[in-house]
Amino acid sequence: MFLRLSALFVSALLVLLPGQPTSGQPAYVLSDEAGLGRLFDGIGGLSGGGATSRLLVNYKEPYRSQILDYLFKPNFGASLHILKVEIGGDAQTTDGTEPSHMHYENDENFFRGYEWWLMKEAKKRNPNITLIGLPWAFPGWVGRGKNWPYDFPDVTAAYVVNWILGAKKYHNLDIQYVGIWNEKSFDATYIKLLRYTLDKSGLDRVRIVASDNLWEPIAQSLLLDPELSGAVDVIGAHYPGTKTVPQALKTQKKLWSSEDYSTFNDEVGGGCWARILNQNYVNGLMTSTISWNLVASYYEDLPFGRDGLMTAQEPWSGNYVVESPIWITAHSTQFALPGWTYLQTVGHLGRGGSYVALTDGKGNLTVVIETMTHDHSVCIRPPLPAFNVTSQNATFQLKGSFASIKELQVWRSQFNFETKKPSFFQKLAPVKLIDGSFTLNLAEDEVYTFTTIRAGQKGSHPAPPPSARFPKAYKDNFNIRNPPFSEAPNFADQTGVFEYYQNLTDPGPHVFTLRQVVTERPITWAADADQTISVIGDYQWENLTVTCDVFMETVKSGGVFVAVRVDKGGQSVRSTKGIFLWVFADGTYKVTADLAGQTVLAEGQSGTGAYSWYTLSITGKGQSVSVALEGRSLWNGTVNLKQNHGWVAIGTSSFQLAQFDNFAVLAE
Ligand SMILES: *[C@@H]1O[C@H](CO)[C@@H](O)[C@H](O)[C@H]1NC(C)=O
Ligand SMILES: *[C@@H]1O[C@H](CO)[C@@H](O)[C@H](O)[C@H]1NC(C)=O
Ligand SMILES: *[C@@H]1O[C@H](CO)[C@@H](O)[C@H](O)[C@H]1NC(C)=O
Ligand SMILES: *[C@@H]1O[C@H](CO)[C@@H](O)[C@H](O)[C@H]1NC(C)=O
Ligand SMILES: *[C@@H]1O[C@H](CO)[C@@H](O)[C@H](O)[C@H]1NC(C)=O
Ligand SMILES: *[C@@H]1O[C@H](CO)[C@@H](O)[C@H](O)[C@H]1NC(C)=O
Ligand SMILES: *[C@@H]1O[C@H](CO)[C@@H](O)[C@H](O)[C@H]1NC(C)=O
Repeated sequence: MFLRLSALFVSALLVLLPGQPTSGQPAYVLSDEAGLGRLFDGIGGLSGGGATSRLLVNYKEPYRSQILDYLFKPNFGASLHILKVEIGGDAQTTDGTEPSHMHYENDENFFRGYEWWLMKEAKKRNPNITLIGLPWAFPGWVGRGKNWPYDFPDVTAAYVVNWILGAKKYHNLDIQYVGIWNEKSFDATYIKLLRYTLDKSGLDRVRIVASDNLWEPIAQSLLLDPELSGAVDVIGAHYPGTKTVPQALKTQKKLWSSEDYSTFNDEVGGGCWARILNQNYVNGLMTSTISWNLVASYYEDLPFGRDGLMTAQEPWSGNYVVESPIWITAHSTQFALPGWTYLQTVGHLGRGGSYVALTDGKGNLTVVIETMTHDHSVCIRPPLPAFNVTSQNATFQLKGSFASIKELQVWRSQFNFETKKPSFFQKLAPVKLIDGSFTLNLAEDEVYTFTTIRAGQKGSHPAPPPSARFPKAYKDNFNIRNPPFSEAPNFADQTGVFEYYQNLTDPGPHVFTLRQVVTERPITWAADADQTISVIGDYQWENLTVTCDVFMETVKSGGVFVAVRVDKGGQSVRSTKGIFLWVFADGTYKVTADLAGQTVLAEGQSGTGAYSWYTLSITGKGQSVSVALEGRSLWNGTVNLKQNHGWVAIGTSSFQLAQFDNFAVLAE
């Protein structure tokens, strides 16, 4: 810790020395006498990277609006200052794929997915919210067939700038910051070209964040290349463990923890968030911290289940949970806005914990104090070095512009790990200051806000409906559209993109269908499967029948499947196991125990071809499985999978167009 501090003293921006001891206790001075610290850019949440808000959009009202209130409404809950979203690239980006605004080179559609909707809902609640876009992946055509976005940097820049222009044109959304390529390599030529393309498109107000990865490589490049430095406004690092590096400080750029947290949202998750929100500035001079993810709205058995500020993973029941990170966020967000400035007088408390102070420059002061102990504030990464926190008395002495403050509003959270009865974001009686000073008896695992701002509020809505499992009888014929959305409820695409489709030419009974639309392997962020797949349902499902109509649009190598007991999604989608019934356009069928099709349980002739509809079904009951085509039994077998339960899924044998209709599950 102290080694880090010496690095910060080099920057001469931080004064950590406690003030005059009063009655034997150390006093922490809060003052602007020696000038101020860095400008505060706000606290945010990240939707995407990937598909983390997938289930949120399908909540019924009023629950959906309530969840959005807890996230975005000023003086209510997390009251976030920043919403960062993924610029969908048709590829798997952790918990699913998000659709691109340009699946194909000559294609353009700014109404896909849910990020546009989410940004508008956030903006509706807080018109000041800062919007950020960042690509994780790109459609294949951007790389001209190579899994790399920088060989044709003009194509990539035009693609990204087009997304920003579309946000304004179709949704009246001003994107304020844009990033490069999440947690991948950056390319100086591309960054300069992106800057040039933004400026040329009248978007000189849009700032560039680079490179959403580590500190060193980008900081080093900025120090060596003045033109690059001119193009980049913010260095964004991921999971910095509250620390920065000397090169980053030397650039004099804004430093952000542009992705952080990613921790299970129980009380230890809340503790992690409390510690890093303060210490990202105290130790690393970061002026913004953004949580991956915004809200855990994806199937919990996908990777990093419940790693969001709150949980909303049951649109079918309406149940959601306002978790502790929401109230920890409120301690900062409700009492300091972007544009406020940190004081130089921030630091560590003598017996562990930290404090930050911010001002609006007009006399208002907000102090946030946390005393999270090591074991109660561990984040998913990086490893947390040992430190001790014990109860302590702390005296704060206000000086400079703040010397005459007579009273501060007080908000407190106590995690109470021992009694398991936490109390979050409670408003206490205001504290009266004597000669600008107040003393606090701090216990372990507490968070306090002391502020001149009176507007804070612990918002609440009536309790949502109780939690319930995914319905056992579930049907979707894709005829009833969910107006603003391109995707059918509860389907969580893991490779490829499945969209509502309407056949306008002599449609027959299949006018409205769900169609897989990605026809070329994207520039990937994760290891997407070679097949496409969308999962749905209850991960515990074992005994059930699934039925679905399928339609291949690829003549020679067309292939589609329906599957049960699907055990994986996310980044490990390539090794997904389950029971897959495939039919192919060459007139054959297969039953396999994996998505990759390597373990064949049965195969034979099916008489299937492209441009015809077929009904597939699978019934699983313990180890007995039977599959049928057009209601005709194809195969009965005994299967012994390592895991005998999982989601239901649909998909295709490669990146190809195919349609699905009349999907139905009946589970026991
Ligand atoms: C939005 O910004 C304006 C201008 O800075 C400020 O007066 C207002 O309080 C802000 N509102 C919220 C909800 O942050
Ligand atoms: C503090 O903020 C409030 C609300 O924005 C404002 O009315 C007031 O003038 C500010 N200054 C002080 C010293 O309270
Ligand atoms: C924490 O306190 C324990 C017990 O007093 C001590 O042994 C340990 O060295 C301390 N750890 C740190 C990192 O200060
Ligand atoms: C804090 O001060 C109170 C008296 O105000 C005293 O009883 C207590 O022991 C002190 N606690 C610590 C940890 O010094
Ligand atoms: C649309 O429907 C017609 C008539 O059933 C069919 O011939 C055609 O293949 C369908 N096209 C698509 C893309 O589904
Ligand atoms: C599924 O059915 C089998 C065979 O009847 C039974 O042993 C098993 O407990 C059932 N599983 C569930 C989750 O109900
Ligand atoms: C599968 O079992 C059912 C019920 O016993 C039977 O009617 C059907 O003919 C069997 N299918 C095959 C392909 O053997």
